[in-house]
Amino acid sequence: MVVNLDLLTYAGNLRNLADLEERQHYCFVCGDIADANFVAEVMAEAQIDPVVHFAPESHGDRSISDPQSLVRTNIPGTQVLLEAARRYAIDSGKSDRGSGGICHTGSNTALCKPFSGT
Ligand SMILES: NC(=O)c1ccc[n+]([C@@H]2O[C@H](COP(=O)([O-])OP(=O)(O)OC[C@H]3O[C@@H](n4cnc5c(N)ncnc54)[C@H](O)[C@@H]3O)[C@@H](O)[C@H]2O)c1
Repeated sequence: MVVNLDLLTYAGNLRNLADLEERQHYCFVCGDIADANFVAEVMAEAQIDPVVHFAPESHGDRSISDPQSLVRTNIPGTQVLLEAARRYAIDSGKSDRGSGGICHTGSNTALCKPFSGT
């Protein structure tokens, strides 16, 4: 099952997901990745395996005009996802040595905007 958890901020639009609505192994859930209880519930209910974090607040200029949202999503949001995944892996017995890991797509260059720095 692919669960698309998205807060539908200025950057999100359900119309972009219309093609996926009828897919058998897909569902959309509206919510905040920084909400630890909510994320834990979704993970447990859907028996999530891999987690992909695509919620970066990537619109660079907004990272200047509204840095609070950017910081919340990228720092506590990322930490909540990591901790929820770790906790779920332990609770569900899916955790074992050698499995799991983190793939990060960030870059250390161009740190002139808060988005680039997170
Ligand atoms: N846009 C680019 O030029 C670009 C380039 C390279 C890589 N990427 C990568 O692609 C991925 C997506 O980028 P994008 O440009 O589509 O991002 P975006 O900022 O346009 O979209 C982010 C999505 O996350 C949702 N979101 C924001 N805050 C949230 C929160 N707290 N909880 C849940 N959902 C939340 C938004 O509603 C939106 O649907 C990212 O991993 C980004 O690093 C983007």
